[in-house]
Amino acid sequence: MVPILVLHGPNLNLLGEREPGVYGNVTMEEINHRLVEKGVELGLEVRCFQSNLEGELINLLQDARLWAKGVLFNPGGYTHTSVALRDAISAIKIPVVEVHLSNVHAREEFRRQSMIAPVCYGTLAGFGWRSYLLGLEAIRGICCSDNEF
Ligand code: DQA
Repeated sequence: MVPILVLHGPNLNLLGEREPGVYGNVTMEEINHRLVEKGVELGLEVRCFQSNLEGELINLLQDARLWAKGVLFNPGGYTHTSVALRDAISAIKIPVVEVHLSNVHAREEFRRQSMIAPVCYGTLAGFGWRSYLLGLEAIRGICCSDNEF
């Protein structure tokens, strides 16, 4: 089993009750459950964490370089502001896929800019909780296929 980190940033612990018209009504715990199950099908060992704290997210990314083969990351609001998270992603050599539930390009202007997108392998946005599952399939392709592009 290939170990993968799934990392949720600020306010994503409130999924289900937080702006359901934008983010859906599936909870973070349920998304994690679906990811772990999908992971088993794909041969991935999925470990999920959430933090509202920027520094803790950085610590988790740094730790991931010692055990994970890839990272699925929804940085929440830090997506649009955090140079420090971008630097952490640049510092670790494992591939990071950026994930968003909402279509950030169809919302407020400030959400169109992602600080981390240029240092991520790719981005999935706008598919609700399914963005995470699609991201997991992408990670599997990146981490487990023999250099095929
Ligand atoms: C989000 C989009 C961000 O703009 C927002 O701040 C979030 C959630 C998403 O998953 O759609 O917290 O990352």
